[in-house]
Amino acid sequence: MGTGRLPFFLLLPLLVPGAVQGEVIQDFSQCAWFFQGKVPPQGFDTQNRVKICQRYKNHYHFVTLYRTELRNPIYSAYRYPCTMGVTKEKRPRPWFYEPQIDDPHASSEMTSSNNTSSDHQAVDADYRGSGYDRGHLYPYSFNRNDSATATCTLTNAVPQEHKANVNWAKEAEDVVLELAKICHKSGRSAYVVTGSANSTTIKVNNKVIVPGVAWTALCCTSSPSPNTDPCLNNRVWSEGQDVPRCDKGFSAAFKKRMLPEEPAVRLTVRELQKELGVGKIFESCRGTSADDEVETFKDVTLLISAVMSAANGVDSVKRWSWEFAVMCCLLSEIGLKWV
Ligand SMILES: *[C@@H]1O[C@H](CO)[C@@H](O)[C@H](O)[C@H]1NC(C)=O
Ligand SMILES: *[C@@H]1O[C@H](CO)[C@@H](O)[C@H](O)[C@H]1NC(C)=O
Ligand SMILES: *[C@@H]1O[C@H](CO)[C@@H](O)[C@H](O)[C@H]1NC(C)=O
Ligand SMILES: *[C@@H]1O[C@H](CO)[C@@H](O)[C@H](O)[C@H]1NC(C)=O
Repeated sequence: MGTGRLPFFLLLPLLVPGAVQGEVIQDFSQCAWFFQGKVPPQGFDTQNRVKICQRYKNHYHFVTLYRTELRNPIYSAYRYPCTMGVTKEKRPRPWFYEPQIDDPHASSEMTSSNNTSSDHQAVDADYRGSGYDRGHLYPYSFNRNDSATATCTLTNAVPQEHKANVNWAKEAEDVVLELAKICHKSGRSAYVVTGSANSTTIKVNNKVIVPGVAWTALCCTSSPSPNTDPCLNNRVWSEGQDVPRCDKGFSAAFKKRMLPEEPAVRLTVRELQKELGVGKIFESCRGTSADDEVETFKDVTLLISAVMSAANGVDSVKRWSWEFAVMCCLLSEIGLKWV
């Protein structure tokens, strides 16, 4: 049946954000490979949220669940490695926004947010002179080229106080990136979901809500088939000699109270799920069941200490710690416990 014969009011729901069937704002099925097992995180409220397959220069780079009334991303989901596009990375000025949230007929690509206003999403003017950083969920430094540039879209950002933003990068994002490198070096892919929670009552420019908490969860698991996975269809760099391997998959999570600021804490994915009041963030991942949660947490502790001593540049400690980390993963594989 053609829609031409329907009374006009029946067509109206198609025009509100959340029901938009455009190229960018749609069901996640178009870009489900950013989710572990191609399954979106479970138990997040999706009512009145827009699902964005983040598109830039004709490629999907990541996925965002966005809450329009507070102009706040619930989470962005992305992969390491997953660099698409070839333009040498650069931060756009001003940042991008998603025209299709306001107009389903607009461009399906993220677009410069200069000179724009919106009733449903943050634009550049909201942040200008606000004193708040545009705090990335999917961090700029995680992939390269167009995938790095594409992270600079305001639907992937929350207002963060500068010092807390810098500390989040140091205390959580940098560690997650190192874990992702270990994961890829070990022949796997890292799936990451990063979000914001616990809204404060502060609104930047009276529009964009400031979240109280930032969180991130990583799952290192077997790589999908390169033939069906766009992330793996492109040239992938190697991590180099200095990155240790781990012979098991793993998961890890971090959260940080941003306002008032507290140091980031590491927790298990199950603990994070409980605090967020959601279901499974990852479909199936080592360390996300009661059975392997404790053991995986210990393994990741050792991986992180290896990464930290490497970052501190102490060569002998570095080498020793890596071997230690690899050994830990092997030990737990054959069922020995590390205390
Ligand atoms: C980034 O793009 C350059 C060309 O501008 C290309 O040589 C390089 O391989 C790309 N890097 C990645 C990681 O894809
Ligand atoms: C914004 O408007 C100014 C003039 O008001 C114009 O020079 C500039 O090119 C516009 N920028 C964008 C990104 O549209
Ligand atoms: C952005 O818009 C402002 C105000 O319209 C204008 O002054 C500025 O030049 C624009 N910047 C860019 C990069 O287009
Ligand atoms: C949000 O705040 C509540 C109440 O203070 C707290 O119990 C919960 O753990 C917080 N959520 C996160 C993810 O930190």
